[in-house]
Amino acid sequence: MSTVLVTGGNGYIGSHTVIELDKSGYDVVIADNLANSKMEVQNRLEKICGKRFRFYNVDCCDIDAMRKVFNENKIDSVIHFAGLKAVGESVRIPLDYYQNNIDSMITVARLMAEYNVRNLVFSSSATVYGMSEDVPFTEESPLGVCTNPYGWTKWMLEQILRDYAKANPDVRVCLLRYFNPVGAHESGLIGEDPRGIPNNLFPYISKVAGGTLECLTVFGDDYPTRDGTCIRDYIHVCDLAQGHVKAIDYLCRTDESVSVFNLGTGDGTTVKEAIAAFEKACGHEIKHVFGPRRAGDIAVSFAKTDKAEKILGFKAKYDINDMCSSCWKWQTMNPKGLED
Ligand code: NAD
Ligand code: UFG
Repeated sequence: MSTVLVTGGNGYIGSHTVIELDKSGYDVVIADNLANSKMEVQNRLEKICGKRFRFYNVDCCDIDAMRKVFNENKIDSVIHFAGLKAVGESVRIPLDYYQNNIDSMITVARLMAEYNVRNLVFSSSATVYGMSEDVPFTEESPLGVCTNPYGWTKWMLEQILRDYAKANPDVRVCLLRYFNPVGAHESGLIGEDPRGIPNNLFPYISKVAGGTLECLTVFGDDYPTRDGTCIRDYIHVCDLAQGHVKAIDYLCRTDESVSVFNLGTGDGTTVKEAIAAFEKACGHEIKHVFGPRRAGDIAVSFAKTDKAEKILGFKAKYDINDMCSSCWKWQTMNPKGLED
């Protein structure tokens, strides 16, 4: 059985990916320092998968602690999700972001070289395309200028990993550029569980729908789009998770040293459309007001998905209504999120 080390596997996307890997017959080991997730996720995964996963509470920047993980398990592939991801926070504490995100990846890559682990999937982001208006983004679209330190960590790590792969011809690296992951597992047992007041649209809408927050502010309704609000390519987190399984399958058979794939649906949804879809899912109105634009937002972002479809055999199957109804189920079953 092929073993996948999932760093950050206790987090939002990582935990959903663990389920899909398990379903596909991969053996999973998780490393997470709980910086942005609760240990309760492991109990929920046990309920869903009927087994307890090997879990290491370690900081991926700590090479000695991580060496123990590589020593105790025969790892074939790594999916590196571990990282800090709050855009606004990255502007306030940039050094923490550069240190954590870059150090953790370099540490894991060093250990992969030491233990001859060949396959690496890295969580990148559509944010590397910068402020370009040339949509849809293809994998060949030029990388842009990022608007915040979080985005730069992804941009820099893509380059670091290209250099790493060039120097280590046996290594296979897959850079996955996610668009906007939303939604939750169909069980309602795991989902996105942000600390404090959410920054992202879907967690915010969920909390307004659930009554914990009063009103959503829509950031700008004067964009050059069909209804004036920004367009994003929302992708169900379970589809995204499936994309990772396809990426690992691909790395096991390819000779390409570095591959890059967009993971999105190829469809754009405006903020107003997202609110309307959520209202349909929860059955009541979501209170919202229109405010000024948020700094750093682009009007339109969506993926060209042909490459992932052709090479990975990946195509998203859930639509915006599925994303909203799964979010709503997660919200109603866990109104306060997970507790430790
Ligand atoms: P998340 O915060 O829910 O999960 C990340 C996990 O990594 C958390 O459980 C956290 O405790 C852990 N972690 C952080 N630093 C660590 C370290 N040094 N050592 C060990 N564990 C550490 O975030 P997510 O939404 O699941 O995102 C996963 C990855 O995908 C991140 O790298 C993120 O930047 C990237 N990404 C996310 C989005 C998104 O919108 N959610 C979009 C594009 C890319
Ligand atoms: N929005 C609101 N009100 C809110 C929150 C968001 O109107 O309270 C709007 C935003 O202005 C944007 C849209 O909803 O138009 C989506 O915003 P999100 O914050 O949910 O997502 P972003 O597209 O800004 O950011 C996401 C990830 C980042 C990643 C970026 C690019 O959160 O990590 O995509 O890939 F860098």
